[in-house]
Amino acid sequence: MSLYMTLIMFFPFYHTYICSVNKPIKILKMKIALRSIVVVFSLMLVACGGKEEKKKEGFSVDRTKTTEKATEAVTETSTEKPSERVDLENKGVGPITSVTLSPDIDTALAKKGEETYSQMCMACHRIDKKFIGPAPTGVLKRRSPEWVMNMILNPEVMVKEDPLAKELMAEFNGAPMANQGLTEDQARSILEYFRTLE
Ligand code: HEC
Repeated sequence: MSLYMTLIMFFPFYHTYICSVNKPIKILKMKIALRSIVVVFSLMLVACGGKEEKKKEGFSVDRTKTTEKATEAVTETSTEKPSERVDLENKGVGPITSVTLSPDIDTALAKKGEETYSQMCMACHRIDKKFIGPAPTGVLKRRSPEWVMNMILNPEVMVKEDPLAKELMAEFNGAPMANQGLTEDQARSILEYFRTLE
């Protein structure tokens, strides 16, 4: 018998032998492969989870930044707009040093004031919207009565010497508040009229 014949004859046995030997190895290999797949998979999961967390962190950091910016913006506008600033202590510069307001509005005086306002002030002031000058509505919630009367009677000096009036003129693009040559009584009546514009 030649070697060739022997090989052919024994091949089925050899084959089954090899397969039976190989089987556990194959199973082992598959197990290892499966395990590594599981390991790789869980690694990927961990990596993705980490990224998500990082993203979330990044997002929350951004959000705090925007809130910071928002608060900054709010404080900026509240300090930067002199027309909206409340300063009830400042009496301004001019002839008026003290005004006493009665608890009730003197309607007759206010009516007089309204007439004078319509003739002398409407060119630049609208009751409740910004025009060439600020709206007088609510002005007594922001300014002292003395400051308002000094602004009416002494605007040229006010915009030079009173810090608030100075800033106000800058806000209104340097347009000066005009001195309309009113008497103190006329200015007082306009003040009474302004009290009705709450
Ligand atoms: C030529 C335009 C003009 C006329 C007329 C004018 N004003 Fe003014 N007024 C202004 C401007 C502009 C301002 C803002 C401050 C500045 O630029 O000097 C102002 C500011 C004021 C303020 C301060 C308001 C605030 O919110 O702080 C009062 C009060 C005021 N005016 C009252 C009057 C009265 C009352 C009259 C009429 C007797 C009058 N103004 C006439 C232009 C005018």
